Amino acid sequence: MPILAANWKMYKTIAEAQAWLDAVADRPALERAEVVVFPPLTTLHALRGRCQRLGLGAQDVGWAEQGAFTGMVSAAQLRDAGCGYALVAHSERRRYACEDDQAAARKIAALWQAGLTPVYCVGEDAAEREAGLGEARLQTQVETVLTALSNELGGRLVIAYEPVWAIGSGAPATPAQASDAAALIRKTVLSRCGAAAAARLSLLYGGSTSPETVRGFMAEPLIDGLLVGSASLDPNSFLAMLEVMVDA
Ligand code: 13P
Repeated sequence: MPILAANWKMYKTIAEAQAWLDAVADRPALERAEVVVFPPLTTLHALRGRCQRLGLGAQDVGWAEQGAFTGMVSAAQLRDAGCGYALVAHSERRRYACEDDQAAARKIAALWQAGLTPVYCVGEDAAEREAGLGEARLQTQVETVLTALSNELGGRLVIAYEPVWAIGSGAPATPAQASDAAALIRKTVLSRCGAAAAARLSLLYGGSTSPETVRGFMAEPLIDGLLVGSASLDPNSFLAMLEVMVDA
């Protein structure tokens, strides 16, 4: 099944989140895709249990199991709050919270330990791209995490290729660029973790996706789905993306 994930970032009150869910919840297309919403933590409780066909995820997770870690939320606490997924090392976390690949590896391990699915975000920024270092950056982001995890996938892993230059810019990568990145990521996982692990991997593209661009990305055999930011906030545009995706 294709994957459609909505990252709401720091948008929506509880009432707005509920209204979004009311608009989306009874759509038959939900049964033909793995649909996951990453809402603000404050809205999780209101969304939980209101739609069985919609997965819930957190936008970040603490790497520790429990303890004196002010401001962190553990993977077990997220599971307790109804989450089945969490984003790891989104580029905005890398930028504003100084997250690095080592921290990402610890978070992925913590999520597996609690039975959650990590969605590990990778991607080069504009300067790296212009300097011709995009592929190297991507490879480092994947390899550093795999090394820290002893080249073993202890659970399901989703990797989202989100080039920083495309996020929020209105100019997505081309499907061919996203496919090339997906091929590199899959090859890296294959060489480190073996064929069975690489086959279990799911690859998403994210960065300025919209209803108009879904078909092109989903036509790429190496792309399993999309991680959508601003176009996911309006239920109508999100539903339009879902309809194209399940039709593709
Ligand atoms: P936009 O779709 O708004 O570019 O955001 C992408 C993103 O960061 C999803 O995680």
